[in-house]
Amino acid sequence: MKYHIVTYGCQMNLHESEKIAGVLKEAGYTEEAPLEEADIIVFNTCCIRENAENHAFGNIGALKKLKREKKGLLIAVGGCMVQEAGKAAVLKQKFPFIDILFGTHELADLRSLIERKRAQRKTVISVREARAETEDGITPVRTSYPNAWVNIMYGCNNFCSYCIVPYVRGRERSRRAEDVLREVEGLVKEGYREITLLGQNVNSYNSDGKGGMSFPELLDRCASVEGKFRLRFMTSHPKDFSEELVAVMKKHKKICKHLHLPVQAGSNRILSLMNRRYTREKYLDELALLRREIPDCEVTTDLIVSFPTETEEEFGETLSLVREADFSSAFTFIYSPRTGTKAAEMEGRIDAAVSKDRITRLIALVNEKTREKSAAYIGKTIEILCEDYDEKKGMYLGRDEYGRMGYFRSERDRIGEFVDLTVTDANGISLYGVCAD
Ligand code: SAH
Ligand code: SF4
Ligand code: F3S
Repeated sequence: MKYHIVTYGCQMNLHESEKIAGVLKEAGYTEEAPLEEADIIVFNTCCIRENAENHAFGNIGALKKLKREKKGLLIAVGGCMVQEAGKAAVLKQKFPFIDILFGTHELADLRSLIERKRAQRKTVISVREARAETEDGITPVRTSYPNAWVNIMYGCNNFCSYCIVPYVRGRERSRRAEDVLREVEGLVKEGYREITLLGQNVNSYNSDGKGGMSFPELLDRCASVEGKFRLRFMTSHPKDFSEELVAVMKKHKKICKHLHLPVQAGSNRILSLMNRRYTREKYLDELALLRREIPDCEVTTDLIVSFPTETEEEFGETLSLVREADFSSAFTFIYSPRTGTKAAEMEGRIDAAVSKDRITRLIALVNEKTREKSAAYIGKTIEILCEDYDEKKGMYLGRDEYGRMGYFRSERDRIGEFVDLTVTDANGISLYGVCAD
């Protein structure tokens, strides 16, 4: 029996799809296959913005015919969208052919849900509000060698006013540090070369006291694991940024000199309405501290334009912040109202045409910065961890510790190797180069 998983959303979801694959293997599905050949198709959904939802709606809807024609095909839909208030019912009504709807706390139960579905005609729905345990006992089927994701915590307590994550992922729950460490050690022994510690807000690790140590301490311990590997972590919240974190990053060569520190907006009024709990000045002070201690550290960020009531002048403050902060790249989003969040109730929605204009200007500025920084790499040699082969380009690719993509040709398989790449050309965030064979 074969499976196919379609994933939307963040790294958290990508890793959870690896866990879903692990559960499916236990349930007797032996291999991954293209959609048309699969005996079970699982959608792991995201609801962070409206377009993420529309995407999933479109793809699930497109399966109606296949489901009718292929006897025994199971369709399961899980992930954050199913966890939204009332959404499971909407999905069931819109797509009666869905066999199983399961929430974000039900990954380990998927096997029993499949069994339940085999015994009944009705759609099986299982969505829990919360989950206290942090160990799921699942052995994930990892698909991103030489990179591996490790959850250090689940959920989020921050309630940024635009964000749906705290509603669909529940409150913060930290894994015990010893469980995290054991997993990291195991992965390094297995030959994984890059470990990314995952949490919605890793700096508040242990807010529930369950971890047993602070995030900087955990990072220190993980970076002390023997072996040649890189360590990354995502995501940091500026309100919990600390000197201790910078000190640990400085102490270990294994920790990538890259910080993803979402700022969202440049205006203090908007930051306050977003409930981000820091100011533009505090954010810039944090970057100054980071760069004083680790001068070549690269910073990336997330930015939202057109939060309700954002004026042209306030948007201009986001542009000026991008200039001042010297980001090496940024993810840019148009604000998307999410039912149930505070911001969705606010007046002063920004007109779509204005939003389009703002995001276009922001992207142009971000790209200009990225290009400038990439061009400065030409002639330099960087160490990249080769992670894939691009069939179209006929080139291997990997990232340097700053997160920049480097492409090169090679006669032999280089995946999993650290490669010294002499950069000859740059295009956006991508670098092209040659390596000694
Ligand atoms: N926990 C992480 C990631 C959250 S989701 C963090 O706090 O940084 C990733 C990004 O999506 C956010 O940083 C934010 O920029 C964006 N985002 C979240 N909700 C959004 C919404 N309703 N509209 C537009 N962008 C949103
Ligand atoms: Fe959402 Fe804010 Fe939590 Fe990030 S920190 S997941 S943006 S509520
Ligand atoms: Fe991630 Fe989307 Fe859920 S960004 S946590 S998959 S809402």
